[in-house]
Amino acid sequence: MRAIAKAQPNIALIKYWGKRDPIRNLPAVGSISVTLSDLFTEMDVEIDETLKDDLLVVNGQDGNAMLARVSSCLDNVAGQDRPSARVTSNSNFPIAAGLASSASAFAALVVAADAAFGESLSGGQLASLAGRSSGSAARSLLGGFVELENHRDDIAVNSLLAADDWPLKVVIAITASGPKAVSSGEAMEVSRKTSPFYDRWVEQQASDLTEARAAVSDRELSKLALIAEHNCLKMHSVMWGSRPPMIYWNSATIACMQSIRDLQSRGVGVFFTIDAGPQVKAICEAEHEPTVRQALVATAGVVDVMVSGLGAGAKLVTA
Ligand code: PMV
Repeated sequence: MRAIAKAQPNIALIKYWGKRDPIRNLPAVGSISVTLSDLFTEMDVEIDETLKDDLLVVNGQDGNAMLARVSSCLDNVAGQDRPSARVTSNSNFPIAAGLASSASAFAALVVAADAAFGESLSGGQLASLAGRSSGSAARSLLGGFVELENHRDDIAVNSLLAADDWPLKVVIAITASGPKAVSSGEAMEVSRKTSPFYDRWVEQQASDLTEARAAVSDRELSKLALIAEHNCLKMHSVMWGSRPPMIYWNSATIACMQSIRDLQSRGVGVFFTIDAGPQVKAICEAEHEPTVRQALVATAGVVDVMVSGLGAGAKLVTA
């Protein structure tokens, strides 16, 4: 009747941008990500037959803005005739700011709801249901390097490499706090409908995935850096070419990219990636993490820097 699950956000190295089925929230492209270890969301789902409607508290505040998405996720797990639930979400990092908080939230939610409602769904079913709420959430069900495969009828996630097999670090430069103006879900629909670059983006994804898969399997950071930065900048070019344009960067975002270019020119094993927000994620070899952190802390406009290792997938904390 009550279960708590914990999940970490993931950062895409080969990005998901665009839906092929907006109703079922099926992505137009596959993607590859790393699951983090140090940032997390904990979801507590408690069935309460006395409640008329679901209740949601997010980080101690009324969660009404997210309630419809959470309730529909619970319906997907337990059916529409399920009893109501009291849902409490707590994250140890800023939410709705391009740090993939919806990924950790919905991955934790499907795992907690599955246990609380006694559904015993398979890992594949949980991935499919998490993906309906947030395309990237399915990837947080697994740890380390994860590929989301885009099959004809549904998605599937699989593990490419465990976190311990290539323990990279992710240094996150926060360049602005607070929620973003346009959600990624809305923005990718604008891109699909209006960006002249969208079709080419979708067409090229299979070859980007192949290149990244090989780099992960060989554990070659310089190879992964080339394809991940290329894929990230292509996704942002699709956004910039949309009408209206979707520009998530600020001047500090660009300053961080320049800092990372400087580090690369000095032989530091690091590369950047940026999602639907102004924050910059620097992926690096563990030995270079202090140098990368120092460089980003010293970059103009950076308000905070967080560091994470790679970690495990979503799991139940209590049941
Ligand atoms: O899962 P959503 O709907 O928040 O979309 C995520 C989109 C990106 O973060 C920009 C890319 C990705 O693959 O995570």
